[in-house]
Amino acid sequence: MDIEQYVSKVREAAKYIQEKTTKKPRIAIVLGSGLGKISQNLEDALAIPYSDIPNFPRSTAPGHKGELMIGSLKGKDTLLMNGRFHYYEGYTMKEVTFPIRVMQELGIETLVLTNAAGTLNPDFEVGVPCIITDHINFFGDNPLIGPNFDDWGPRFPDMTEVYSKSLVQEAFKSAKKLNIRVYSGVYLGLSGPTFETPAEMAMMRNFGADLVGMSTVPEAIVAKHAGMEILGITAITDKAVPEQLKEVSAEEVLKIAEKTGENIAEIIMDLVDIF
Ligand code: HPA
Repeated sequence: MDIEQYVSKVREAAKYIQEKTTKKPRIAIVLGSGLGKISQNLEDALAIPYSDIPNFPRSTAPGHKGELMIGSLKGKDTLLMNGRFHYYEGYTMKEVTFPIRVMQELGIETLVLTNAAGTLNPDFEVGVPCIITDHINFFGDNPLIGPNFDDWGPRFPDMTEVYSKSLVQEAFKSAKKLNIRVYSGVYLGLSGPTFETPAEMAMMRNFGADLVGMSTVPEAIVAKHAGMEILGITAITDKAVPEQLKEVSAEEVLKIAEKTGENIAEIIMDLVDIF
């Protein structure tokens, strides 16, 4: 598909969503695996199944619902993406990040990306949220490859501050106020669907990463290209530390993400005031 076609598909999807609501969300939140709870706080909510939106991919990952929600969080119009698209499902990078372009066309300015991930840091504990300070793109692919659409962003976008420093600080302030323990760290994103071998874990730790997961990086790249302010929060669901290994199951990951998600939802709810 050429870029003009892609742009018109994005615009068609955005137009469909716009025609469904009078709300004008400037905030969007992508809910990762097991992190759907925050949607319970959304008032006056309209849910649009992905299957109703023209050109929108469909979600197949476990723990992902597959609907866009538009409503009000503490009086602020907000868009929730309940279920995301992963590279490991077989989507292209352009498909994985299609919803972020739709958000751009809708006028989203602040994007919260949540996810479940393993921790490579021997000092980090499972079940604790971690604020993302930076990422390493280990996908071996990039959603911006191909012709650039200049109206969306520059050909060679700066990546020195993908995750807003001020939002990282505000997230720490909120967590402190709420008495919730949080870490901050670097997220390494890769395709999956395999979890990491011990040799890979050791390598990634040496590269300076604290977290490893299968999402977020493509979306953050496109959102940064689009000029959005980005906050990333991880639910640490397992240890990816060679000396502290337990076998990882997807079910266990989901269970812990749901539990950690309660604290993440509280932090986000507190932050909505400053978004
Ligand atoms: N590795 C990669 N992705 C993940 C992990 C992990 O340990 N846990 C949850 N998502």
